[in-house]
Amino acid sequence: MRESVSYAIHDGIAVVTIDSPPVNAMDQTMRAGLKKTFIALRGQSEVKAIVLACVGKTFVAGADIKEFDTGIAEPGYHEVLRLIEDSAVPVVAAVHGTALGGGVEITLACHYRVAHAGARFGLPELSLGIIPGAGGTQRLPRAVALEVALDMMLTGKPLAAGKALEAGLVDAVTEGEIVPAAIGFARELVQKGAGPRRTREQAVKGAAQAGELLTAKRAQMAKTMRNRLAPLALIDAVQAAVTLDFDQGLQVESSLSAQLEQATEARALRHLFYAEREVRKIPGLARDIAPRAVARVGIVGSGTMGGGIAMCCVNAAIPVTLVDATQQNLERGLATIRKNYQRSVERGSLKAEQMEQRLALITPSLDFGALAQADLIIEAVFENLTLKKEIFAKLDAVAKPGAILGTNTSTLDIDEIAAVTRRPQDVIGLHFFSPANVMQLLEIVQAGRTAPDVVVTALELAKRIKKTGVVAKVCYGFIGNRMMDPYGREAERCVLEGATPAEVDSALEQWGMAMGILAVYDMAGVDIGHLTRLERAHLLPKDPSFYRPSAMLCERGWIGQKAGRGYYRYDGAERNRTPDPEVIAMLADEARRLDIPQRHPDATEIQQRCLYAMINEGALLLEEGIALRASDIDVVYTAGYGFPRYRGGPMFYADTLGLKTVYEGILAFQKTLDPQYWQPAPLLKKLALSGSSFAQWQAEQTK
Ligand code: 3HC
Repeated sequence: MRESVSYAIHDGIAVVTIDSPPVNAMDQTMRAGLKKTFIALRGQSEVKAIVLACVGKTFVAGADIKEFDTGIAEPGYHEVLRLIEDSAVPVVAAVHGTALGGGVEITLACHYRVAHAGARFGLPELSLGIIPGAGGTQRLPRAVALEVALDMMLTGKPLAAGKALEAGLVDAVTEGEIVPAAIGFARELVQKGAGPRRTREQAVKGAAQAGELLTAKRAQMAKTMRNRLAPLALIDAVQAAVTLDFDQGLQVESSLSAQLEQATEARALRHLFYAEREVRKIPGLARDIAPRAVARVGIVGSGTMGGGIAMCCVNAAIPVTLVDATQQNLERGLATIRKNYQRSVERGSLKAEQMEQRLALITPSLDFGALAQADLIIEAVFENLTLKKEIFAKLDAVAKPGAILGTNTSTLDIDEIAAVTRRPQDVIGLHFFSPANVMQLLEIVQAGRTAPDVVVTALELAKRIKKTGVVAKVCYGFIGNRMMDPYGREAERCVLEGATPAEVDSALEQWGMAMGILAVYDMAGVDIGHLTRLERAHLLPKDPSFYRPSAMLCERGWIGQKAGRGYYRYDGAERNRTPDPEVIAMLADEARRLDIPQRHPDATEIQQRCLYAMINEGALLLEEGIALRASDIDVVYTAGYGFPRYRGGPMFYADTLGLKTVYEGILAFQKTLDPQYWQPAPLLKKLALSGSSFAQWQAEQTK
């Protein structure tokens, strides 16, 4: 096996170099290499100091995440880090790139830290459902103030080198080359006769105020990280750092880590880590297909969507030509973009001059001809097939050869849209989510004739504008909205069966959804879905209760937050949602009229009905080939629909329940509820009856 650790001695300073592409993750080979190296250096009297550095784009980016699935092999983290810390001569970490997780923990076992000005130090373990497990919970509060340590570990937000210097996490920052700077630092230590400064021998910084701080953080985590294990375990581990000696504290950290690593929460978050990287690999697409160059983007429509997409592009320094039909629309659109940036400037997350630079990259125009220079044109007008077809015919006339034509439709048939052009191979769906400048997800819809390099370009664009791009095929609603349909249908049906809107939403929120679906409708506008259903009425079930609550609200003009009322009332300055007795009475009257039995579904039933319906639809999408992988569905839902990451996405969640449980649940609902909706997807049935899972099925498909 290739060695990933080597060393060379330069005039009394040993430089230990880690080289394990792509991100220097600390796997077993690296740990074994570090162990061998530090043992070898122990016996060499000419070595007066040691510098620990990495080659490649980054310092160690953490533990090898894959190892958590198989169990950590020997030598373990503690053994290796203790060897480094025990060195009799000073050890200086030379940090560039991103030192993450175990990467920061190695630097804490070193005696001194020198960082490149562009380096960042982060502890993202909570985002993987674990806690720093290589001594981080014990050493970090000894290196920096307890509050800073807790903040770094609870938020996962990395500290830039300058801030790390202020916090005392690093001893020196250099603008120049990192290894020579660290060697220089080590030489000075030797000249001064400074010995090792072991973190474990320091006292916790701020231990006197720990009680109050930890209690406050515990309360905050219980509220903001509902249903999670790792955040509270992290606070327990830090508490151990405050109250116990170092070795006892380390034991507490180890035992908490061992419990967390195999818990469903950590397995779910690891699943998403892999799934979010897997989405870029499209089965059947050769890895060497080159993306088309995108130097300028054209956008048609300067409304909320078009404006948000323009912001995404200029944030990534891609110039935009923004076209709309009227001067008034354009001005309104540009004013909204400026207002959004202004808010970031006021919050301090953007400098005023950056705002101006970004705005200057947007060229507004009333003329479609202005789009002739764009390499990619994204249509973002009202969701109406006739209108979109008209626009695509116009785009076909003005776009340069090879330009990609994207449509931001959320439901429509992209093959039909592509058919009005002479270049269907260049047409693709680019479904952004509102607000586009904030939401993580980009559904990339490959129509029947979309060329492979157009798909590759869209994936590349997603990465450039810092979105998670997931490829889907054409069907009504693609992956996300198609699965929302049965989920929402059950929520709407539950309010006709006697659950109040607040009961339905709170059941879903308690389970972990970011927002209950009825509150989501109010936020987005109840009319949006309603209008789509009116257009597709001929394709929908003939059931008079189907999405009836939404229809009734729209008939009354109670279309959600923008009208001040929808499923809820939004009164007062805060515009908080409050139950609306009139809506509750309206639903009860309608239930009587439609002769709907009042079952008063409880929270468990609401959760199961909504989620099983969603999972079943997901299984259909897999069979139809609309979604390429079960894990892609999980990425869509966690990145775009407020599905709790710690549950891994709907398909992973189904696997954790066991597909037999889901299948039998659906059969039970078939008996007690409307059987037309409760037909198990054939794939779900097959997997459930054979004791398989979506993950296993996916592994077999991609073999
Ligand atoms: N372990 C294993 N593989 C890793 C990895 C890790 N920690 N970090 C990245 N990789 C892999 C990715 O899976 C990807 O593989 P692929 O090419 O086969 O898909 C490859 O490295 C490149 O990664 P990215 O595509 O993410 O590269 P970017 O340049 O976009 O990002 C990064 C680089 C910022 C380092 C990003 O990869 C990242 O955030 N990695 C995870 C960091 C992390 O969470 N570290 C903490 C681990 S837990 C820990 O340390 C526990 C400790 O307390 C004991």
